[in-house]
Amino acid sequence: MPSYYNDNTKMSDIICDAPQLLQMMSRFGIPLGVGDRSVQEICATAGVDTPTFLAVANFMRHGSDSVTQHLDQVSVSALMTYLKNAHDYYLSFQLPAIRRKLLEAIDTAQQNDVALLILKFYDGYMGEVRRHMEYENHKIFTYVERLLNGTYDKNFKIDCFARRHTGIDKKLQELKNIIIKYYVPTGDGDLLNYVLFDIFNCEADLRSHCQLEDELFVPAVGILEEQLAQQGLCHSEKTGDKTVTDPLSEREKEVVCCIVRGMTNKEVAAFLFISINTVLTHRKNISRKLNIHSVSGLTIYAIASGLVDVKELNATANIKKAASLR
Ligand SMILES: [Fe+2]
Ligand SMILES: [Fe+2]
Repeated sequence: MPSYYNDNTKMSDIICDAPQLLQMMSRFGIPLGVGDRSVQEICATAGVDTPTFLAVANFMRHGSDSVTQHLDQVSVSALMTYLKNAHDYYLSFQLPAIRRKLLEAIDTAQQNDVALLILKFYDGYMGEVRRHMEYENHKIFTYVERLLNGTYDKNFKIDCFARRHTGIDKKLQELKNIIIKYYVPTGDGDLLNYVLFDIFNCEADLRSHCQLEDELFVPAVGILEEQLAQQGLCHSEKTGDKTVTDPLSEREKEVVCCIVRGMTNKEVAAFLFISINTVLTHRKNISRKLNIHSVSGLTIYAIASGLVDVKELNATANIKKAASLR
């Protein structure tokens, strides 16, 4: 079993063990000058979530088996920031840098047809990568941000993205093969080898980026979706409880208030501008919903629910008593 990186692994050891992880560090916003400090210390200083950093580092070094059991420890937010920074790196730095080197190496100034086609092929590829990453930035990450804010969308699942998600390294592989097998350099051969080396690295980097999305990001978002779906169920249950404790409609509450103030059915009908039959229907429904059939029982319910004030009821009762004694 490979020795996975952990909290106490020295950051400098990780870089020496797998130099390709240097790019990962910059995407997490971790600068060089790491000294002998551990992953945990460096992440704490840089404000990076350590379990997420370790999950990505182990994934890129040892594959998805290294993180399967720790998926629930991954911060979706930190992982998404990492992926956004990676997109920015490819679109703003790495792919344009390769284009500049390619332009220099294949000597398009000579109007070599193959050289011009290679450049056109590369430009087409850059456009594809841009569309792929802009879709993720604008659609998928916006969806995940809403999930992180507690908004659960029943009509979309991260699996919908996963099913459509394709690798973006194949065309680069094709370009690399065309150059290696069919392009005879007329200019500086060293420059072409130099750019080929960059294409090899970029291809591997893009492949691992897509794998990270499929095997770490998608499952981590899936866990978040499940948690929110469960919370949604709890919320529904709570709403159901509310119905049990507060089952009366606004009109029924008005009827209760009238009854506990001592009004007759006729008085309630006149007061609420409804028919006596409607009052009787409301009373029947109130009794059924509350399972309370007496005025004294309704009075307790009305006071306990805050529908009426006990002092007001006492004053009303005193007025009625005084009136009956006249
Ligand atoms: Fe991506
Ligand atoms: Fe992707």
